Amino acid sequence: MKEPLRPVRYDDRDDTVRLLDQRELPGVESWLALRSSAEVADAIRTLAVRGAPAIGVAAAFGLAADARRGADAAALARHAELLARARPTAVNLAWAVRRVSRRFGEGGEAVLAEAQAIRDEDEAACRRLGALGAPLLPPGARVLTHCNAGALATAGYGTALGIVRAAVEAGNAVTVLADETRPFFQGARLTAWELQRDGIPVTVLTDGMAGWLMARGEVDAVVVGADRIARNGDVANKIGTYGLAVLAAHHRLPVYVAAPWSTVDRDTPDGGAIPIEERSGDEVTVIGGLRVAPLGVPARYPAFDVTPAALVTAIVTERGLARAPYGPALEALGRAQGPGILDRPAGPIV
Ligand code: MRU
Repeated sequence: MKEPLRPVRYDDRDDTVRLLDQRELPGVESWLALRSSAEVADAIRTLAVRGAPAIGVAAAFGLAADARRGADAAALARHAELLARARPTAVNLAWAVRRVSRRFGEGGEAVLAEAQAIRDEDEAACRRLGALGAPLLPPGARVLTHCNAGALATAGYGTALGIVRAAVEAGNAVTVLADETRPFFQGARLTAWELQRDGIPVTVLTDGMAGWLMARGEVDAVVVGADRIARNGDVANKIGTYGLAVLAAHHRLPVYVAAPWSTVDRDTPDGGAIPIEERSGDEVTVIGGLRVAPLGVPARYPAFDVTPAALVTAIVTERGLARAPYGPALEALGRAQGPGILDRPAGPIV
């Protein structure tokens, strides 16, 4: 395998946030060098960086850049507010902003240290949840995934793809079916790119193909990430996940949701309370400059949907696995104390 993919970095020599521009993949690997949290907010809104944990890390680094360039606590608080609102559904964004905000009074070094800790902990969380989730996959499993919940969507390693990577590292020759994930094509462009880069077999499907392949017995498990998990286990994830979960239930296939604990939002009681980002219909009707619907016909673009907890077989976090009933299971994981994630070896499943 190649050098681990880490799409969000901080360069403390010139206080810039370096982002692998995900709008350009798979054709071009170009890195943005952003000098302020305002530039990072723009990159988040325009999907240069995307994926719940990755936008949290990018936002934290953006505030570190502001702090190291001399912004005072009042200015930082204003910038934090702006960043937290850049995208509404992924709770990791507001969570990371809140976490670095607590260090604003201590100066730039402290803010950067907190941002680095968020980055390091996220990658460690992905590796641990990957190790915990890998045994769920039968030998040679054909894993269907949606969107990109890989290294590109996190600090590194990935959540859903973290489980895939950990399974492969453990000697399980799993293969991946990647929904293309219209309209931004995270599956076709990003999941396929990063798995090919790591030599993990991947086949791209259009979003409407999953049901038929399930009916033909060509899928063993659905493994996806999450943007926010409510207290009752309802899961917000990329639009299309709900449909896959309904299809999986019909075909008696397991649906595993992989997410770091920072995606679990115990302040949100259920999926109905999760804000769903509505993006411009133009992103649906114009793809790469090509108009694919008649001019003047409107399009909808809810960017996420909510999969009810009842359709989820297990939620895999670095703290352990949760299974239904999710309320008490997540509460128990929330109480789980112990050493920081960076010190904790992969242990028994809770
Ligand atoms: O709009 P995006 O690409 O930011 O949406 C990302 C997803 O829905 C991912 O599946 C989710 O954030 C999990 S990423 C580990």
